[in-house]
Amino acid sequence: MSLNIQPVTARIGAVVEGVRLTDLSDAQFAELQQAVLKYKALFFRDQHLSDAEQEAFTQRFGELVVHPTIPTVEHTQGIFDVDSERSRANSWHSDITFVVDYPKISVLRGEVIPAFGGDTVFANAATAYQDLPEPLRNLADSLWALHTNDYDYAAPKQIEAVATNRFRNEFTSTVYETEHPLVRVHPETGEKALVLGHFVQRLVGLSSHDSQQLLRIFQQHVVSLENTVRWRWRQGDVAIWDNRATQHVAVDDYGDARRIVRRTTVAGEIPVSVNGESSRALKPSPESRIPHSEQAKLGLKKAS
Ligand SMILES: [Fe+2]
Repeated sequence: MSLNIQPVTARIGAVVEGVRLTDLSDAQFAELQQAVLKYKALFFRDQHLSDAEQEAFTQRFGELVVHPTIPTVEHTQGIFDVDSERSRANSWHSDITFVVDYPKISVLRGEVIPAFGGDTVFANAATAYQDLPEPLRNLADSLWALHTNDYDYAAPKQIEAVATNRFRNEFTSTVYETEHPLVRVHPETGEKALVLGHFVQRLVGLSSHDSQQLLRIFQQHVVSLENTVRWRWRQGDVAIWDNRATQHVAVDDYGDARRIVRRTTVAGEIPVSVNGESSRALKPSPESRIPHSEQAKLGLKKAS
């Protein structure tokens, strides 16, 4: 039986109905993989996955990878908690772009969903690139950006300072710096997409002043409302996105309510620019320049 896929907008996002993610046949999973590439963000109601089910499902896409600095949820292989009591993911980003081979796919499930607010908005970074006027596209093709986990971050006021500082210190316990092309060629679709988001510190070779102005122009094309889809969570939902061609943000409009979503991520490829140049890992240390995906095999990755 093929999947029932209902697009939410013309640009990005589709709801897949009538399936249990734990029960997909190989043919259905292959169809789902193609749908992730096409719609870039897929949504599923009423899945109610356990941690182990989420991990097992995620591993059908490839190798499960953990966050490089934040420990996984206890007794899990690769579950990352986004808990409003310590962080809110409330600025636009793609996941973990400060590492050289950042995840290709993210899977997120709604665990504790506030009565109102807390939607996640996804933006299509490929259509954003395609729709740039040619002079801006040419400029983007030539630019590189420095991504770091030691990024400019203003804590939401709802989170206690102690919790914020603890999370921040953990998050930056090892500082990562990576140079990615502003435009990467998607390894599966060949589409070009803008690589931006809150881990970008500046453009390589430009002053921070010039960087900020140019970054704002490109980022506005990514996050224009026409280029986005907004998901209203219910407990038990699952969202899956192509992290190589999207950005996302959790809207911080749920006041003091608790919000917990749980993420798993799949090992990605090192991005390649339109000229065929690969992204470069600068920090932490030369031995850590071994691709993230290789570190586990070599026993270099932290247990967390
Ligand atoms: Fe995220």
